[in-house]
Amino acid sequence: MFITFEGIDGSGKSTQISLLKTYLSTKNIQSHIFREPGGTDISERIRSLLLHDTEEMDPVTELLLFSSARSQLIAEKVIPLLENNETVILDRFYDSTVAYQGYGRQSASLNDIDHLNRIAAHGLVPDLTFYLRLSIENADRRTSSNDKDRMEKSGRAFFDKVSEGFDELSSREKRFKVIDANREKAKVHQEIVNHVESLL
Ligand code: TYD
Repeated sequence: MFITFEGIDGSGKSTQISLLKTYLSTKNIQSHIFREPGGTDISERIRSLLLHDTEEMDPVTELLLFSSARSQLIAEKVIPLLENNETVILDRFYDSTVAYQGYGRQSASLNDIDHLNRIAAHGLVPDLTFYLRLSIENADRRTSSNDKDRMEKSGRAFFDKVSEGFDELSSREKRFKVIDANREKAKVHQEIVNHVESLL
């Protein structure tokens, strides 16, 4: 089983992923969680280039680095686990590239990004994608006390476009489940569990 979580910064993905992991373990299903960008030595090194370097980065370089980090994670960890019939949960996957680089930055055409995503994902498609949909106002409120990384400093207009990207994706892709993340976390978790149960 291959499940991915998407949403803008502050949407509660990490919390919901750990709640789901706990729920799955009560069903005797052990799951493996990775974050994107990251999850392997090489991908974590790319992550720190992407998020913590203060220098200006060319948008195409950014697009290719997110894709490189992904390719390494999928090849090194995710494919072997799925081949072994294990459950993998990703904190972001290529839909983030569509939303952030495609809609937000407009680094390349959406067609080119789709193509690149297929290459970087080695053809993998998630069984289920949860889009934790949060208003930008609530996202601002939830992340205002955090140290913002390079992406999070991109501003309101950028995040409006990113949200539009996720909305478009969810209306197009059947694997997308839109979850209202403005609610309390127990309610969000219950809805996620309902979807996962129907997959089980
Ligand atoms: P994330 O780990 O979710 O950030 P945080 O731990 O701060 O919530 O994601 C890192 C950032 O990278 C986030 O701002 C979204 C961005 N991102 C892209 O722009 N494109 C991508 O393809 C991915 C995977 C992430």
